[in-house]
Amino acid sequence: MLLRLRSLFLCLTIHFALTAAAFFKPFNVSYDHRALIIDGRRRMLISAGIHYPRATPEMWPDLIAKSKEGGANVIQTYAFWSGHEPKRGQYYFGGRYDIVKFVKFVGASGLYLHLRIGPYVCAEWNFGGFPVWLRDIPGIEFRTDNAPFKEEMQKFVKKMVDLMREEELFSWQGGPVIMLQIENEYGNIESSFGQRGKEYVKWAAKMALGLGAGVPWVMCRQVDAPESIIDACNGYYCDGYKSNSHNKPILWTEDWDGWYASWGGRLPHRPVEDLAFAVARFFQRGGSFQNYYMYFGGTNFGRTSGGPFYITSYDYDAPIDEYGLLSEPKWGHLKDLHAAIKLCEPALVAADSPHYIKLGPNQEAHVYSTTVHIKGLNSTLLARSQSQCSAFLANIDERKAASVTFQGQKYILPPWSVSILPDCRNVVFNTAKVRAQTSIKGVNLDLPLSSVISENRDLYSTKPWMSMKEPIGIWSEKNFTVTGILEHLNVTKDCSDYLWHLTRVFVSDDDISFWEESKISPAITIDSMRDVLRVFVNGQLTGSVIGHWVNAVQPVRFVKGYNDLLLLTQTVGLQNYGAFLEKDGAGFRGHVKLIGFKNGDIDLSTLSWTYQVGLKGEFFKVYSIEENEKAGWAELSPDADPSTFTWYKTHFDSPAGTQPVALDLGSMGKGQAWVNGQHIGRYWTRVAPKDGCQEFCDYRGAYNSDKCSTNCGKPTQIWYHIPRSWLQASDNLLVIFEETGGNPLEISINSRAVGTICAQVSESHYPPVQKWFNLMDEKGRVNDQTPEIHLQCQEGYIISSIEFASYGSPQGHCQKFSQGNCHASNSFSIVSEACLGKNSCSIGVSNLVFGADPCRGIVKTLAVEARCRSQSAIGFSQL
Ligand code: GAL
Repeated sequence: MLLRLRSLFLCLTIHFALTAAAFFKPFNVSYDHRALIIDGRRRMLISAGIHYPRATPEMWPDLIAKSKEGGANVIQTYAFWSGHEPKRGQYYFGGRYDIVKFVKFVGASGLYLHLRIGPYVCAEWNFGGFPVWLRDIPGIEFRTDNAPFKEEMQKFVKKMVDLMREEELFSWQGGPVIMLQIENEYGNIESSFGQRGKEYVKWAAKMALGLGAGVPWVMCRQVDAPESIIDACNGYYCDGYKSNSHNKPILWTEDWDGWYASWGGRLPHRPVEDLAFAVARFFQRGGSFQNYYMYFGGTNFGRTSGGPFYITSYDYDAPIDEYGLLSEPKWGHLKDLHAAIKLCEPALVAADSPHYIKLGPNQEAHVYSTTVHIKGLNSTLLARSQSQCSAFLANIDERKAASVTFQGQKYILPPWSVSILPDCRNVVFNTAKVRAQTSIKGVNLDLPLSSVISENRDLYSTKPWMSMKEPIGIWSEKNFTVTGILEHLNVTKDCSDYLWHLTRVFVSDDDISFWEESKISPAITIDSMRDVLRVFVNGQLTGSVIGHWVNAVQPVRFVKGYNDLLLLTQTVGLQNYGAFLEKDGAGFRGHVKLIGFKNGDIDLSTLSWTYQVGLKGEFFKVYSIEENEKAGWAELSPDADPSTFTWYKTHFDSPAGTQPVALDLGSMGKGQAWVNGQHIGRYWTRVAPKDGCQEFCDYRGAYNSDKCSTNCGKPTQIWYHIPRSWLQASDNLLVIFEETGGNPLEISINSRAVGTICAQVSESHYPPVQKWFNLMDEKGRVNDQTPEIHLQCQEGYIISSIEFASYGSPQGHCQKFSQGNCHASNSFSIVSEACLGKNSCSIGVSNLVFGADPCRGIVKTLAVEARCRSQSAIGFSQL
């Protein structure tokens, strides 16, 4: 409800907000060793990473509102140079790259912004955010003491700072921008550049500071960041991080709350209990700014995905999923954590450092209570700060719970967990006790586009599928011929993934008899190549190689006389990490040879090659609304065989409602898809390894991206996000380019919604953190210790059925609950009465609520599984 009101409020105020001169009363941002000082006050800050081009402007307000509702004070983003300067000197700030609009939305919602300009950003973004034209500047060497590079870098960084200043977006102008970042994790690669790397760090810092932005700058993973720049930590855990000077606060610019995925890889998940543990530990041990990388990951639309081989989805297992829906229980549990940290903020900022108490072999407390005078605090604030005491109790044992005594009281700490005591007495939150609900998303319409016409005209009314072959090889006059094998990016300039190379190979009678007699077959040998190679001989596809700088041997079959040898090299996201990116390139490296010939090997680089960049369909924009009719489409017969290098198109009506929309491309091979001319990304049904997924995800112990992964044996991605704002009610044009052969008739369009919600809360949980202050009497005692279960469907949905309810000792987990020995027989009716027909409901977990104690002497748990249904519920039968 709150979320809905917030979104509504945001929508109503957008116009006013975006035209208003200032979002805040102008304020200064500085820092000391403890924290950022915002408008004279130290702050404990929770930041939500959202990359604006990974969503649409129409999604931004809701994403920001959900971040704020989840407890964030700050939004963090990179600036994406390749999007803003697609051609050298020609800037673009429209559409998904309208960064000014994004920052204004943030300001309008009352949040701050951390802008990481880079301009190298990594980010699993194509070429790490560098525009590909940058590598063509004569003499350029990236990210080192190199004049051409520094000149271009400075131009872009200055452009961004000037833009923020002109739009009055810095804090001292009343805008939301409180902090900037120069470079990105340069420390990881600095040693590759020797002394020149060190010089570059100093230059970058000086250059950034010289731009007069008037807010602090950060360098992440940069132990030698100069005194005037804050060095910051990135990682899964950053507690115990020490900045490189006593004058700087401890900032965590990237808390990896999940991870990205590659085509053919598993899907990583980071358990929220561990994530909450890492965040609580960070604040426990003196941290003051923590950013979730990512809070919303979003989508790599078009060809923006980095790599090689990063998938189109950048969901990241973030608290807000790729579609903008809450990922539960992650979002909710972190919201509870943030509320608990907020309760501690007065004590955390008042203390210069925590008081450490060892509680056991693997247990420790950090207590924040102090009277140290903070410069800038007036006497009233100082008096208030003196009365504060907050504590964090940690059990870092990976296996066992621990009972500890702290200030005379006993506390039970689950393994690998932190308890938060805002008043040094009452626990309001423990990182391992998840009260938040689990939400399982489903699709509410799942009809193949092919069957729509006959089955349900009203719903979809598509036109028939059409198809068109892409020519194999050279298709335009714009081809050229040279001797030798050219580097892929030097030719394509990354305007397309595809580069055709054509040559002719002469095969003599002697070769043929040599092969027949010796039983040797000829083959192409490649020293090194990336990302995909397809080999055609005389127009027939004879083999494919997939890999990242791999060597390959591809057998080929030739006929007597001249043979066309056609090689198609492809990129699947340019390299985004590492030193010397300008040299990385694509296509082939080293030798490419034909072996097995009578007169010895043929070095293919001595032959004459004809080059053709891209696909004909791409060039003629057959995916666009304006151009597609002009192309030579033919109706696709329902029994057509799967066909390689083929374009397909159809039209479809949008699924009803306002829920996010996804395209199921699970029946296809590899290619790209467009809706109404918008490029929704590359697709590929590459399958993840069969093993390496865990049946049960144990949150305990240090996380890494191989822990708790899912999706083994399945294609890494089959669903592709089509933002609602790219759709009209009917007749949307869908165009697909398919390389390897799939069945477009099985493509379906779905709208995504939360179908099932579950929660499981026991008497040993704490009451909702948000209510905690109301529960305390004037002596600081907590009166009502009743924990609650809270269930909520998404906006416009109601709880339509209760699938399971048991107060007692229920077993299992969401979608697999079962009754235990202890069960209150009225569980179902009590829960049904409280929840059915409502968008959300809360039920106390106590004997009082269920009328009696169903079984004495055991800790009772309430587990509920419910279904959500759209209030309008049209076509919702399959949820
Ligand atoms: C960091 C980098 C980010 C992102 C992240 C992994 O090293 O700074 O941009 O690439 O790794 O998701």
